[in-house]
Amino acid sequence: MYVKKLAVNKKNFVHHITDLNISFNSNDGGIDREILLKNNHEGIIQTTKGEPLLFCDATFKDNIQAMRKGAAVIIPKDIGFIIAECGLTKDSIILESGSGGGGATAHLAALCKHVYSYDINKNHLKTVQENLERLELDNVTLEECNIIDATPKEQVDLALIDLPEPTIAIPKIKEVVKQGGFIVFYTPQISQAQEVIGQLDEDFRVMRTIELIQRDWVVEEKKLRPSHQMLGHTAFLTIARIFRKE
Ligand SMILES: C[S@@+](CC[C@H](N)C(=O)[O-])C[C@H]1O[C@@H](n2cnc3c(N)ncnc32)[C@H](O)[C@@H]1O
Repeated sequence: MYVKKLAVNKKNFVHHITDLNISFNSNDGGIDREILLKNNHEGIIQTTKGEPLLFCDATFKDNIQAMRKGAAVIIPKDIGFIIAECGLTKDSIILESGSGGGGATAHLAALCKHVYSYDINKNHLKTVQENLERLELDNVTLEECNIIDATPKEQVDLALIDLPEPTIAIPKIKEVVKQGGFIVFYTPQISQAQEVIGQLDEDFRVMRTIELIQRDWVVEEKKLRPSHQMLGHTAFLTIARIFRKE
């Protein structure tokens, strides 16, 4: 992984450590390389400013957070729902378009068997490739390709469509999604969801269109209230399945 260790301060600010062979420097103060190596980058270590930092291993989540983002990515509240709603497992095969910043790609590749990911933007694909390498994920076929022309090597359990014009993907989805498989259209506008649903023929069944609202709360001794800042809108998720009358 790219981020190897974390150093967490008293206020829960998390410093990412990517190189274990150098000294640590931050607003919380510094720590010599020799001290870090002697402590194996583990436990509580005092900085030159007397700040106690807690060192531990970085996780996949920390590495996802450290990813370079080239486009608007699908965030955990939505990708978590997609994974559960579509019953994805280690055996699932996924088609995804566009690859964008690789937010969805990374989460899906970490869980599923294989991800076929298509994007028309070279720069976005380069970013996704770098992110996947940092995350040590090698089960993704990344292709510079219009979704219209995509040719995954096998039928897929889920097609995740996050495109400015989602309807263009419908003929391809119809061809490559397994019988009973899922399609998720991730659309910032509800008018896009309406347009998609209007163009799905009798081989598709629309299960639901949903928006997930996330609100953090402040829970302290004298404060029990929603946070002043709230994550506003991300997108609508339209979930459909393929039930062909073969
Ligand atoms: C919002 S981003 C996708 C973000 C991605 N779901 C994530 O989580 O990082 C939309 C992407 O679709 C790509 N795109 C647009 N039209 C396309 C097409 N016809 N075929 C393939 N990709 C396309 C864009 O280049 C862009 O990278």
